[in-house]
Amino acid sequence: MVELLEPTLQSPEAVLQLLSTRGGDSYFGEPVTVLEHCLQAAHFATADARSPELIVAALLHDLGHLLHDAGENVADHGIDSRHEELAVHLLGQHLPPSVTEPIRLHVAAKRYLCSTDPAYLAELSPSSLLSLSLQGGPMTASEAASFLAGPFALDAVILRRYDDAAKIEGLQVPGPEAYLDHVKALWL
Ligand SMILES: [Fe+2]
Repeated sequence: MVELLEPTLQSPEAVLQLLSTRGGDSYFGEPVTVLEHCLQAAHFATADARSPELIVAALLHDLGHLLHDAGENVADHGIDSRHEELAVHLLGQHLPPSVTEPIRLHVAAKRYLCSTDPAYLAELSPSSLLSLSLQGGPMTASEAASFLAGPFALDAVILRRYDDAAKIEGLQVPGPEAYLDHVKALWL
């Protein structure tokens, strides 16, 4: 695992602040920043009337990318930053598994969808295909079955769909402050 830049998160406000201040880099060859990407994912979850837990998971699913300094194009160097584990390492101290487990599983969910949905695999962006190979490639049939049997797997698959959709250049969506009440309500 790459080194953590941020050892602790003090408050809901600090989490959203981190997203706002460090999320300005472009999102791995996509036409949006990390912040825009996260806000779009949370917006799609909200528009679908998902639970506050899943909305917050969508908002924070890529926080791990802001917690290391391995660089924006880390996958180009053949490194899987394990960003989902970095995020859960920090967020798990303050948010329930209903938030952190879909985050932890959102990369596995991509490997699951690649093995079970040919259309999904065909539509992956070039940078997502590159990171897929670093993440272990599509699941085998038995891996997919055991993944789906686990807790929060379906939430992770739903989150993954928002993740993949949240790359729309110029889309206007609410900012981080729109989610403060949700994060506060879930904060442990
Ligand atoms: Fe993402």
